[in-house]
Amino acid sequence: MALPDRLPYFPRPELLQSILRQLLSGANVALFAPRRHGKTQFVRNELLPSVHESGWFAARVDLWRNRSHPAKGLVEGLEAIAYAEKKAGLLRTKLDLKSVRTKFHTPGVDIEGEWVPAANAAPAPDSTLENRLANALNRIAGHGKHALLALDEFQALAEPGNENFIAAFRTVLQDLEDRLSVIFTGSSRDGLNRLFQRAKAPLFRSAESVTLPNLSDEFVDSRADYLADVANLQVDRDALKLIFPRLRYTPQFLNEVVRGMLVAGNAGVDEAYRRWLDGKRTGEYADLVDGLVDEDLAVVLWLATSGESSVYTAEARGTMAGFMCTPDIPATPRIQSAIRRLVQSGIVDPVGVKGSYELADQGLQIILGELAGPLVEQRAAGKP
Ligand SMILES: Nc1ncnc2c1ncn2[C@@H]1O[C@H](COP(=O)(O)OP(=O)(O)OP(=O)(O)O)[C@@H](O)[C@H]1O
Ligand SMILES: [Mg+2]
Repeated sequence: MALPDRLPYFPRPELLQSILRQLLSGANVALFAPRRHGKTQFVRNELLPSVHESGWFAARVDLWRNRSHPAKGLVEGLEAIAYAEKKAGLLRTKLDLKSVRTKFHTPGVDIEGEWVPAANAAPAPDSTLENRLANALNRIAGHGKHALLALDEFQALAEPGNENFIAAFRTVLQDLEDRLSVIFTGSSRDGLNRLFQRAKAPLFRSAESVTLPNLSDEFVDSRADYLADVANLQVDRDALKLIFPRLRYTPQFLNEVVRGMLVAGNAGVDEAYRRWLDGKRTGEYADLVDGLVDEDLAVVLWLATSGESSVYTAEARGTMAGFMCTPDIPATPRIQSAIRRLVQSGIVDPVGVKGSYELADQGLQIILGELAGPLVEQRAAGKP
């Protein structure tokens, strides 16, 4: 049996209706959720097709299409949308390798319906990014009776140095508010909040903030149905429902566990979960953990196992010393340096309260939490 690339999408009709209502009322929307909870899938599978069906122009840009320069990635993505062609006009375009490649795929850009993103779209590459942004947004607003832009990973602009760009962005959006709506999505609530607070403009303040709800047991049932349909595997539904919270309600992880069952041809829940943990520990996260110096790993372990987010307390630093097997409690500046490195490499995110952080990747959190589990349980039971 050939294994499917991805498991079926599970729709979120209530979320769709509530976001559509907000957009129709004229509000912009900021959609938050931890990584891999399904923001991008929701926007691509449900929101964009639905607004397109209602007659709007709908497109998406992923700001991480250019990791080292998100503002440039955004402007170039918007230009690819602004100068997009209707599919009917394709035959008339000049053929060259770059334009052919773009017709097949433009990274980090989607346009709903019969449009093809433009290649080499920068009409005035030497003008400022702010001017190019204004120009592109104006053209996009003219693509339909109303346009919706989904700006994915928008918190990438929260880095210092983007202040003028954000101010320019806000001004154009205000000018175009009757013709252009925006949904901002991001995995770092703190990043998006900082961005919106810094840009103290009514437009940003008026963005309705929506938290992507966790998927329910029905999602788990849909995975069980799928196993039965495609591979005739009967999974213990109650056991699978207990695994989902341990996976921190992350749909990607449950899909991975279920795929593991398909590969093994065995629907044993505990075995599949163990295999998933082992796979992550020896695969995806092995290099990451290996690359951390002691202080950084101690901070990561503290955040993964303590249930606390503050890292500078005496208790936190005492526990970190224990992890490092040293009697010397690390001084605050040492932890500050570790935090700086961890934030810069995207392993840890600030949570918006001074001195408080969380692991950006819940997968890492789950693996480390499971490793520490027996220890924590032993301690709770008063054993050494
Ligand atoms: N509604 C859903 N139904 C089925 N699978 C889903 C659903 N939402 C998400 N997934 C699974 O989770 C994976 C990650 O989803 P997605 O990329 O949308 O998350 P994200 O919140 O955008 O993450 P990131 O912040 O890392 O960009 C998908 O590839 C898919 O396997
Ligand atoms: Mg995403």
